[in-house]
This record gives sequence, structure tokens and C-alpha cells, in this order.
Amino acid sequence: MPDQFEDLREAEELSEDEERLLDELGITGESRRRFLGQVGVAGFSIFAMQVIAQRQALAAGGTYSEAAADPISLENAVKVVFKVNGEKKTVEVDSRMTLLDTLREKLDLTGSKKGCDHGQCGACTVIADGQRVLSCLTLAATCEGKEVTTIEGLAKGEELHPMQSAFIKYDAFQCGYCTPGQICSAVALIDEAARGDASYVTAVEGGSNTKLSDDDIRERMSGNICRCGAYPNILKAVKEVHKGEETAATWKFHRPDEKAGADKEVADETV
Ligand code: FES
Ligand code: FES
Repeated sequence: MPDQFEDLREAEELSEDEERLLDELGITGESRRRFLGQVGVAGFSIFAMQVIAQRQALAAGGTYSEAAADPISLENAVKVVFKVNGEKKTVEVDSRMTLLDTLREKLDLTGSKKGCDHGQCGACTVIADGQRVLSCLTLAATCEGKEVTTIEGLAKGEELHPMQSAFIKYDAFQCGYCTPGQICSAVALIDEAARGDASYVTAVEGGSNTKLSDDDIRERMSGNICRCGAYPNILKAVKEVHKGEETAATWKFHRPDEKAGADKEVADETV
């Protein structure tokens, strides 16, 4: 029975060109259902759209590199006017294009990262009208008239946003891939606390909505995954900006002239 539903969904949602492309790739039957289950029909449609557009450009006599660079012909194009980092932007996008792809591919704002593209890691977090949103799950077409802030829009010229400075101060990253999303999330979290928005922790365990406990900060940041495990330092950075309290650093620079035995990282137990 579930297979019949899968077949129906597949038949309804794939165009003839997309069906043909899957056949050409040798993805049929059960492996087709598994493949579509993993990448999603919408994700495959975007890939297929690019391949088909490039083939059309090649058929019209272009070279491969011209075809690859050729703008994808838009189906159901929509014009979106919105503000990004304080500047008015007008883009024409496919109605299925996400905010993340629009920022990265159309506006060259590549600070927001694509981690999972499925709303599970938080690497793509940006701020839209003061609220954190996962830009990989937000259609650009829904952003008409909104104000979007990305990691590129937080600093004022050369002056970093306090949250950016705190992340550097507390060494709150390793590879840095999750960091733009972590910082955007943390900046919006501070505003949420200022507004007194409740979280699961304050709703269930009590406490203050405006003066966040460590557990509350952890809960509110739980949508942002860090594969490097920089969580303890992320917490310290967010705490400092939220409470205005400096938390002592837990490491020191190596100084070769220090006595033997003292020339290793020193753990400070005050935190
Ligand atoms: S890329 Fe958006 S949540 Fe992972
Ligand atoms: S710093 Fe590497 S994923 Fe967070």
C-alpha cells in the first residue's frame, strides 16, 4: 500500500523531462523511490532544471562552459523586493527558490552556509524581521517587503558586532562552518530575551524570560549544530553579550620562556 502512494506522488510531482532524466541516470524502481526520498522531489527538480537548461543552451549551439554559465530559464518566475543588510534588493527567482540559494547564488552573500539543506543543522540561519529563520526552508518568494540580516550585515564597517567579538574572544569555533548561523541565531536570541519571549526551558522549568540561565541559552541555541563541538565556548560568548558579564578565558597563549612544566595550556577553573 505505501508503495502505491509513493508511485502516485512520484507520478504527480515529476515532469516528463524529470522522469526521462532519472531513466537516463539509471535510477529506476525501488532505487528511484529511495533516491527521491533522500534528496526530495523539490531538490531533484532544481537539479533537473539546471541540466535541462544547459542541454537547451548546448542544443542552440553554445559551448559547454557557456551553457554552464547560462542563466537557468525560470519557470514561474517571481519578482521579490526586500531589504538585505539594509539595502533594497530586487531579484527575479523561480518560485521554488529558497532564501539561502537566493542569498548565495543571486546576491553573492555566501556567509550563510548550506549544511544539511533540510532544516536540521542551523548553518543557514539568518534574521528576517527580527526573527531567526532557517533560510534553507524559507522560500525567497515569501520574503517580499521583509528585512533580512545575514552574517555580512552585522558589523558596522570595521567594527564587529559584540557577538562576533565575543565569539573571537572565547574561541567559540574551530572550522567555522556553523559560525555564521550560530552568530545570527545568538544575536536574535538576545533580542528574544529583551522582548521576554519564552522558551521550552522557561515554560516548563520556570525562571526568567529576560535573564537567561545557561540551560535556557543552551535550549535556545539547540537548533544550531556544531560538528566541532565548540558548544562550551559558544555558551560563554552568548552569556557575555546577554549578561554583560565577562567570563574568564579558560586558556592562555603558549609562552616558550615560561618554566618547564608551565609551558602548556593552563586551565582556569573560575568559569
Ligand atoms: S542548511 Fe538550513 S538547517 Fe541545515
Ligand atoms: S566550528 Fe566547526 S562546525 Fe562549528
